[in-house]
Amino acid sequence: MVSDSTWLTSGEITVIGRIADASNATLLAEIADSKVVYKPVAGERPLWDFPDGNLASREYAAYHVSEMLGLGVVPRTVFRDGPYGSGIVQEWIEEDPEIDIVELAQTDSDSIRKIAFYDLLINNGDRKFGHLLAVSPDHIYAIDHGVTFNSENKLRTVLWQWAGKEFSEIERDLLKKFLEIFESSDVNGLITDREIEATISRVSNLQDADTFPYPSPDWPAVPWPPF
Ligand SMILES: Nc1ncnc2c1ncn2[C@@H]1O[C@H](COP(=O)(O)OP(=O)(O)O)[C@@H](O)[C@H]1O
Ligand SMILES: [Mg+2]
Repeated sequence: MVSDSTWLTSGEITVIGRIADASNATLLAEIADSKVVYKPVAGERPLWDFPDGNLASREYAAYHVSEMLGLGVVPRTVFRDGPYGSGIVQEWIEEDPEIDIVELAQTDSDSIRKIAFYDLLINNGDRKFGHLLAVSPDHIYAIDHGVTFNSENKLRTVLWQWAGKEFSEIERDLLKKFLEIFESSDVNGLITDREIEATISRVSNLQDADTFPYPSPDWPAVPWPPF
């Protein structure tokens, strides 16, 4: 895939404002005439269950997973310096305002299933409806991956409709590929070695089970609020 990220990596960032409902310092910004999201590490609120590293590094690692498997579910993301220090900068996605994402996300749409599958790999603890951006019914982006890769199982999502369903051939191939390449990939240095090992062990277990997991009774399986 040829994707020129030069403008995103090195263009000057002009901050326009803070995204009101965001829990951390999530900023709306512009590079040239393009809207971007800028999340500086310095604006993060610490989370009690994520002692190591920062949310931006996790978000960047999650982007790598989407790219390394060719899923393309996460908008283009870079880790770089900016007016409030280093953080992630992500392309802004214009959603189709006609699409009801809450309704669409509860169907058996393949584009939603791709994101539900992706969340298993990154151990996503925060898959809300509001973290799904639909540009069309068949093209949905996934955002906000700061709460991911915990070494404990933390899967918390609104997308449970495939629980207990067998993986498809494509998903089986993706699990295999993930296990072949994850350890030596660009995620090195972004999350801890322990989290890398825990991720590999979790994905191996998924491969053995050959099905999407059921919600665990041991932790809240649906984020609150769900949007
Ligand atoms: N790449 C993006 N494109 C379009 N809208 C976005 C993008 N990233 C974030 N947003 C909007 O900003 C809101 C807050 O962003 P989010 O990543 O959830 O931040 P936080 O980590 O603070 O919760 C999202 O719910 C969404 O409405
Ligand atoms: Mg959010």
